[in-house]
Amino acid sequence: MPRKLLIDTDPGVDDALALLLALGSPEAEVVGITTTFGNIETDAATLNALYLLEFSGHPEIPVAQGASAPLHGARRPAPTHVHGENGMGNVLIPAPRSHPIRDAAPEFIVRTVMGHPGEITLIMLGPLTNLALALELEPRLSTTVAQVVIMGGAFRVRGNVSDTAEANIFNDPVAASRVLSQGWPLTLVGLDVTTRVVLTPDYLQRFRQPPHRLGELIWRITRFYEDFHLRRYGLLGLYAHDPTAVACALEPGLFEYEEARVAVTLEGPEAGRTVQQPPPSGLLRGAGHATKICSDVRAWQVLDFIHRRLAR
Ligand code: BDR
Ligand code: CA
Repeated sequence: MPRKLLIDTDPGVDDALALLLALGSPEAEVVGITTTFGNIETDAATLNALYLLEFSGHPEIPVAQGASAPLHGARRPAPTHVHGENGMGNVLIPAPRSHPIRDAAPEFIVRTVMGHPGEITLIMLGPLTNLALALELEPRLSTTVAQVVIMGGAFRVRGNVSDTAEANIFNDPVAASRVLSQGWPLTLVGLDVTTRVVLTPDYLQRFRQPPHRLGELIWRITRFYEDFHLRRYGLLGLYAHDPTAVACALEPGLFEYEEARVAVTLEGPEAGRTVQQPPPSGLLRGAGHATKICSDVRAWQVLDFIHRRLAR
């Protein structure tokens, strides 16, 4: 039986790759998408998600629009220097014909998880605002969801928006703190592992042979994002942050984990920092769940996993 995925996302170039990966994975059934701010304003994130579903031949998958700002404070301006003005690396995409559903993202998360007890894997690829709001609406979410896989955090490596903070956590530290303190089955796929999964230009070229519209889209939307990596990190290639989280949800054996509690720094120069703490012994005895932090990854196997699902 395919695993039911509900994906919360701010597409975003690596989000787009992650969605295409999930949609191209036979072991997954994408039951819905919720959108959020982060790489781009939420309205644009919704249009990009609708477009990617139409492009992939799945206009029937519901898209629910979500938060446009963090729970507290002002939102950080969209990083257009990373994902382009439209979140798709400045590649002009046609306006989608479909529309978001009436439910807002938090309501849709609650309805979907509560309607399929123990079956839904939530994959969170942006700030955690929608999930924090969903938990407020329905606290039983935490015992009804199958698992939550979050692209977020930086533990033994530097952050990517500040020395200490990763972007998704930084963009709404209060929401992250609420989500990470629930004692539910969470896996954090942070920069420690996502920066080890690098899509090089050669690797991306392989999706274009034989010529195919999916490979062409992947190539075109990654040009600007690849340039950013070269300018910012001197890297020839791009970090596959969000696709790595999808790979972790679908093929967890490709990763190593440490069990912990995770605290989030809410303010000050280290706002958005994720701090790993030992799990209380009670958690290990089964009273709730420790958070699993990805500590290592078989990067070549993740690259192969992605290639096998996206190459034609
Ligand atoms: C995360 O932030 C966003 O820019 C990416 O889409 C990814 O989800 C990486 O820190
Ligand atoms: Ca993202």
